[in-house]
Amino acid sequence: MKGIVIAGGEGSRLAPATATTSKCLLSVYNKPMVYYPLSVLMLAGIRDILVISRPRDINAYATHLQDGHQWGISITYAEQENPRGGIGEAFIIGRDFVGDGPCSLVLGDNLFFGQGLQNRLRGALERHRGATVFAYQVRDPGKFGVVSFDEYGQASELIEKPAHPRSNWAVTGLYIYDNSVLDVARDTPPGNRGELEITDINCHYLQSGMLRVERLGPGFAWFDAGTPDSLLEASHFVRTIERRQHQSCAVPEEIAFQNGWIDQAQLQRLGQDIRRSDYGRYLVRLAEGKALAGSWE
Ligand code: G1P
Repeated sequence: MKGIVIAGGEGSRLAPATATTSKCLLSVYNKPMVYYPLSVLMLAGIRDILVISRPRDINAYATHLQDGHQWGISITYAEQENPRGGIGEAFIIGRDFVGDGPCSLVLGDNLFFGQGLQNRLRGALERHRGATVFAYQVRDPGKFGVVSFDEYGQASELIEKPAHPRSNWAVTGLYIYDNSVLDVARDTPPGNRGELEITDINCHYLQSGMLRVERLGPGFAWFDAGTPDSLLEASHFVRTIERRQHQSCAVPEEIAFQNGWIDQAQLQRLGQDIRRSDYGRYLVRLAEGKALAGSWE
């Protein structure tokens, strides 16, 4: 399974903070936003990852994330020339990268957190056929892609940012597809916004009976950190989890270590390199087997 992180877009809802920095490189509490979606792919066991961003920002991503070897993964990069090309364009740009297998896509501004997320993701990958999306109940569904269900609990309709949502289940920015997505994306015309809408691609799978919708219940947290308020809310959430509950949230080094992709000495080195930060000290303690209660202090 390959993975794509799409970190394109202009970040216009976060201007002027995005005048020189890509939205997904802004910090969510103590680490760049892109660490969160990247960690989701890593938790799912995906090691071959393409990061897509606009030409202006691609080097900044490469500086932050390098080629992934430091985390035991491979990261390559591709440009989305037109920031308004749409999320679905990931499968046009990434066609060669995806090759002939399945692929997961995650949006660069989406954060997922919850106990059992790893099992949930791995289970979804194993059961996967056609397309799988994850839905989450929100108060303001009209800002998202919305899925509604029939009386049997089957997904019956998918609409992008509906004026009158028929349910409060938002479709989150994490998608799993079989290889047919490459042709579906190629054959899907741009939507009303002029973008290749991921919802139109998902509608194709819904209509052919090949869309699986996994609901994420209240034990999970999901944020789309694309506005000043949601960015701040996400930062507060991560801080609360990390400092009060002493759990880590989206630390790629830790996931790599737990997955056996890097060893203790590598982890120790990564921590030492940035040991003046809490984040660095956390890695060092983790490498020493001490990252339990109090580890973020
Ligand atoms: C995109 C998708 C939408 C999805 C959302 C999740 O919206 O088009 O279906 O619910 O991401 O973050 P956008 O953030 O591009 O407006």
